[in-house]
Amino acid sequence: MGRAFVYVILGGGVAAGYAAHEFVKRGVSHGELCIISEEPVAPYERPALSKGYLLPEDPARLPAFHCCVGSNEERLTPKWYKENGIELVLGTRVKSADVRRKTLLTATGETITYKILIVATGARALKLEEFGVSGSDAESVCYLRDLADANRLVNVMQSSGGGNAVVIGGGYIGMECAASLVIGKINVTMVFPEAHCMARLFTAKIASFYEEFYRSKGVKFVKGTVLTSFDFDSNDKMTAVNLRDGTKLPADMVIVGIGIRPNTSLFEGQLTLEKGGIKVNGQMQSSNSSVYAVGDVATFPVKIFSETRRLEHVDSARKSARHAVAAIMEPEKTTEFDYLPFFYSRVFTLSWQFYGDSTGDVVHFGDFLGNSFGAYWVNKGHVVGSFLEGGTKEEYAAIAKITRLKPSIEDLSDLETQGLGFALTL
Ligand code: FDA
Ligand code: NAD
Repeated sequence: MGRAFVYVILGGGVAAGYAAHEFVKRGVSHGELCIISEEPVAPYERPALSKGYLLPEDPARLPAFHCCVGSNEERLTPKWYKENGIELVLGTRVKSADVRRKTLLTATGETITYKILIVATGARALKLEEFGVSGSDAESVCYLRDLADANRLVNVMQSSGGGNAVVIGGGYIGMECAASLVIGKINVTMVFPEAHCMARLFTAKIASFYEEFYRSKGVKFVKGTVLTSFDFDSNDKMTAVNLRDGTKLPADMVIVGIGIRPNTSLFEGQLTLEKGGIKVNGQMQSSNSSVYAVGDVATFPVKIFSETRRLEHVDSARKSARHAVAAIMEPEKTTEFDYLPFFYSRVFTLSWQFYGDSTGDVVHFGDFLGNSFGAYWVNKGHVVGSFLEGGTKEEYAAIAKITRLKPSIEDLSDLETQGLGFALTL
């Protein structure tokens, strides 16, 4: 049993949705393109799962957040794929790939053949078991990567109303889910090993603003330690969690956000891997010229910093996917991908954006007591990164622009005095 396509997108997440949109914009013919996804729904904007999806009132639900509404473009419902002659093979896991024969074998036993493959398999959430802790398969322990996880989390939140939640991890998932739990009237304690939240990006000064804000909403922080075990009563209901520092925290539910691993296993030994992802060139093409990789699973050259990176953010998934399709459909016209890293988050009434690279000296500016402040990162005499909380559209555009321009800086204290004005007047 088998089918053959010119183009196959393996994975049905954010990158797949944006790639499909780009294929249609560039005139793919009916019957040429197929998307295979383990998820049972058409590609959607994954960021909604830790934000609108978890709200107690008027929560976001599909079909409202199918791609590409996250960038204010057309919403691609299953009908759109049908009308454009794109085969959506949903609820189907690919269990092996052979890049030499150009075939994929699905868990249902079908062999799908391609001429060009785009790997958009994203990543999976790391499990506590990978850190030597057991019991995270319990009913009230939640991870968050896909819609099934989000539905489970919503159910657990509903049955924990007024109770206690422990959030493990101080990264994006931890911070965004903690905010949603508080909004859902659940008491939250965050536990993470670092000295402050969002340690991969925030400085101690930036982190302390967000931690204070969270404290004002009732969130407690236990830092510098990790979870070691769960306590359950005789009915298998969770009662508490135990931490390495000896603390016992009462818990009705736990959310775990301790990072991800890219889904590369189908291609190990077949494609070149680097920095945990599939290594691609500036056209998103892997070490096999018929295979492209995009989104969280791709390690690509970030031209502006002259090094390869694997990014785990929605903007890079969207843009790398569009770029790969441009390179496939119009190779002569498509130059090297030239991407400025962009990360953002929204929690409670707060909202920040970051552009570039968080290396070198940091210059903070603005009002850390109000809700409008930011920072520049200056490396080897040039601005390489910019952060802003509570900015306007124009202000965010200005920090993006100066990060892209990498202006030289002679005097850090002068930059501090100028603050946001530096970006706005450049
Ligand atoms: P993505 O994970 O979206 O899709 C991968 C797809 O491949 C899935 O459909 C999966 O089922 C499928 N798949 C994998 N292996 C398969 C196989 N063997 N066979 C078939 N299908 C397979 N970023 C940001 O910048 N701002 C934000 O606010 C957020 N918020 C956010 C919230 C939550 C809850 C998560 C989990 C993530 C974010 N992100 C984010 C990150 C962002 O969502 C992420 O970078 C993109 O979804 C990456 O897109 P991909 O298409 O690469 O992977
Ligand atoms: P993350 O990398 O942002 O944070 C992981 C956190 O895990 C670290 O901050 C650390 O505190 C913690 N940690 C590591 N080892 C631990 C251990 N043994 N015990 C306890 N804590 C430990 O990853 P995440 O928060 O799990 O997010 C998953 C993915 O989803 C990431 O790719 C992220 O970029 C993406 N995401 C992005 C956004 C956004 O961009 N706004 C929002 C949600 C999710």
